[in-house]
Amino acid sequence: MVFLLPGVKFDLDLIQKYDTRAPRYTSYPPATELSETFSVSDFQMAIAASNQRKTPLSLYFHIPFCQSACYFCGCNTVISNNKNIAKPYLKHLVQEIKNTTALIDTDRKVLQVHWGGGTPNYLEPDQVEFLWNNITQHFDIDPQAEVSIEINPRYVDRNYILFLRQLGFNRISFGIQDFNSQVQVAVNRIQPEELLFDVMSWIKEAKFESVNVDLIYGLPYQTLQTFRETIQKTIALDPDRIVVFNFAYVPWLKPVQKNIPLEALPPAQEKLEILKMTIEELTSNQYLFIGMDHFAKINDELAIAQRDGTLKRNFQGYTTHAETELFGFGATSISMLEDAYAQNHKQLNDYYQAVVAGIIPTSKGVKLTQDDIIRRNVIMSIMSHFHLKKSDIENKYHISFDEYFSQELEELKPLEADGLVSLSTEEIQITDIGRLLVRNIAVIFDTHTRMRETKFSRAI
Ligand SMILES: C[S@@+](CC[C@H](N)C(=O)[O-])C[C@H]1O[C@@H](n2cnc3c(N)ncnc32)[C@H](O)[C@@H]1O
Ligand code: SF4
Repeated sequence: MVFLLPGVKFDLDLIQKYDTRAPRYTSYPPATELSETFSVSDFQMAIAASNQRKTPLSLYFHIPFCQSACYFCGCNTVISNNKNIAKPYLKHLVQEIKNTTALIDTDRKVLQVHWGGGTPNYLEPDQVEFLWNNITQHFDIDPQAEVSIEINPRYVDRNYILFLRQLGFNRISFGIQDFNSQVQVAVNRIQPEELLFDVMSWIKEAKFESVNVDLIYGLPYQTLQTFRETIQKTIALDPDRIVVFNFAYVPWLKPVQKNIPLEALPPAQEKLEILKMTIEELTSNQYLFIGMDHFAKINDELAIAQRDGTLKRNFQGYTTHAETELFGFGATSISMLEDAYAQNHKQLNDYYQAVVAGIIPTSKGVKLTQDDIIRRNVIMSIMSHFHLKKSDIENKYHISFDEYFSQELEELKPLEADGLVSLSTEEIQITDIGRLLVRNIAVIFDTHTRMRETKFSRAI
């Protein structure tokens, strides 16, 4: 059965047929390829090469702390009510900035700054200001830069929001997950509707340039009807962007998820109905389907970047400014340079020890081969633009696309026969039906994953 929606079509039979596991392609090679054989000196060499390229910068700062545990959470968090825990962390984070910027050519403009978590608003205003001042002392932030922060709406007030805006943040994101109180109780995240509308009104009063909210489908006690109400209330909140994550249930990696009442999870069929309804509601209420789980208003910069061809993916999801190289600071954060990715230690103690020793706190990474770089370009074009012009790859990498990818083009044929993709001598075009299954198309070009297919969450 096929339902017509603007720009994306929901085909139940095909979605069920292609219900396989695949990476989310926030990077290529995927983060699962990061290995401890990549050393600190490998990263230092990658930084030196990046300095030569003089590419503008993006910066990510990870604040891992949260006041209380949401039972669904798959993020890298440290749960503590003792706010003193943030003090040594900030001290080390600032030291890391000092150590690492001694190696980075910081004459390059910073076009994007993002604070993520965890919960960055775990920090008190003076701590936020302290970190911000350190960042601006060490980096040249472009006056037009996108400066964004993730907040937990349960722990902010009006003054805090106004303060963030005044300090320099101009984009903001907060988690809703679900408006329904039964769902909220089951996931240990109670946040009344009035609170969410208050937070949004303060954000609008402060004139943030773009507001994102996160929802999750597949949580306990969700039904088609309750999630329809959540979507309608979210539309009434009027954010610029909405991300609707598929609940990633990985209790072997995130033991907190063992608190989730399994018997209350919506069955697979109902989840698909929820997804279909979500897409229908959002796309008929001024939100464009950007890709994967992202929706944005037509004038939001994500939608503009998709139209301009400058949209890309990084570890935060879809993002603008394709031309930057990303440096991540803080425990677990990931740097993405042109030909190397590096991740910091996850355990605070390991991270602290490396920083105190004056060593870059890299715990693992990956050096990209030329083949990885070519495939990344193909995969990112498919994921971000649903379209690939073969001559773009041929001109950039001096290869014959059809020869280099002869096996992949052969493997795309059954997907073409199912209507997911249309292949011509010049290009690969993902159809409206294929858009929801774009990971299934991208994975064909991914030599790393095909060897270890089972590690990833389901595509839908
Ligand atoms: C760092 S949090 C957002 C900021 C803030 N900590 C909050 O919760 O409001 C990132 C987002 O990841 C999503 N998320 C976390 N765990 C998830 C999971 N297991 N499956 C799908 N999405 C998840 C949630 O939507 C959450 O808002
Ligand atoms: S969803 Fe946000 S607030 Fe909840 S535990 Fe995860 S990072 Fe912390």
